[in-house]
Amino acid sequence: MTENRRNKIAITGGGGYIGSIMIESFLSKGYEVKCIDRFYFGLQSIRKFLDDENFHFIRKDIRYVKTEDFRGIDSVIDLAGISNDPACDLDEDLTDKINRQGTVNVATSAKAAGVNRYAMASSCSIYGASDGKPLCESSELKPVSLYAKSKIASEREIRTLSSNDFCVTFLRLSTVFGLSHRMRFDLIINIMTMYAFTKGKIMILGGGKQWRPLIHVKDVARAFGKVIESNTDLVNGEAFNIGSNEQNYQVEQVAKTIKRVLPINVDLEMVPDDNDKRNYNVKFNKIKEIMGYETKYDIEYGIREIYESLVSGEIDPSDAKTVTVKYYKYLIDSEKILDEIKIDGQLF
Ligand SMILES: NC(=O)c1ccc[n+]([C@@H]2O[C@H](COP(=O)([O-])OP(=O)(O)OC[C@H]3O[C@@H](n4cnc5c(N)ncnc54)[C@H](O)[C@@H]3O)[C@@H](O)[C@H]2O)c1
Repeated sequence: MTENRRNKIAITGGGGYIGSIMIESFLSKGYEVKCIDRFYFGLQSIRKFLDDENFHFIRKDIRYVKTEDFRGIDSVIDLAGISNDPACDLDEDLTDKINRQGTVNVATSAKAAGVNRYAMASSCSIYGASDGKPLCESSELKPVSLYAKSKIASEREIRTLSSNDFCVTFLRLSTVFGLSHRMRFDLIINIMTMYAFTKGKIMILGGGKQWRPLIHVKDVARAFGKVIESNTDLVNGEAFNIGSNEQNYQVEQVAKTIKRVLPINVDLEMVPDDNDKRNYNVKFNKIKEIMGYETKYDIEYGIREIYESLVSGEIDPSDAKTVTVKYYKYLIDSEKILDEIKIDGQLF
């Protein structure tokens, strides 16, 4: 970073679960941060940054961002979008418009504005229904959801924008866990810890034997930092799995770890249902070998911090916004109801 000029970074989806932790991480490193978000989950997640002179935000939809939104920005981290399988299934057309077309619009607008670096949040779920064999970045993609297909389509289209002046990198994230300013209780560790606290019971779905790579939300922010700050020769046009070889867990093992770590009695219940088709055991050698990246926070750390925040009342397990699909469904249904009863666009 030069002495006289701060490095400017734009984070789309900065109001979200990962984004609000990412903002904190880049501000603490001295970056100037511009958050671009539609703020479907409200502004609460960015409140603590509002007094920071290096923080700016605009409320915008990624489908409609323009070149001028990225002028003067050095790097873009693209996190905005509908962020899980069931929420994407609510509306196939909307998912394509936001997750693919919107994401491509961000990258295209950033390139036209002269931004040098672009890093997109992709997902290890694009490997899909593998049989438990270890997967690396060149493994076959077998997506089982609309969400995963939208990530693959975005990677393919945006890779064509990569050039000497526009360094493009895809970070295929493991399933994330840990505390955030926009809490999510629809991610495996977070939800199981929440149920252990509220009900004293964890239900294991999908057979329990399915593999999931896991990563703490602060380690995700560190990985994006590492990519943005690395030599472009190492990362341009590349995809990296983001996580650690030591943090591939079977769902059943996660539940047992929570039971062992928490200071309360927790029952485990195997729920008979169809085997979960999403089963991926991922290798993370590439990011370690090329950039020396290693995770710092293990699942026990995440389980404890979530449990302590539940106990202290800092996070509310009944907050409707913490379950992404339910909340988007509520917004979609509410819009329909309002549209039906409005006269000339007015409610009152
Ligand atoms: N959390 C995980 O386990 C995980 C794993 C792999 C990949 N990812 C990816 O990481 C990214 C961030 O995930 P997250 O967990 O923070 O999700 P999130 O739902 O908390 O955040 C997404 C943010 O995008 C915003 N957004 C949605 N549609 C928008 C639009 N049309 N225009 C502008 N903003 C919009 C939302 O308001 C929200 O703030 C997503 O792209 C997700 O697919 C997440």
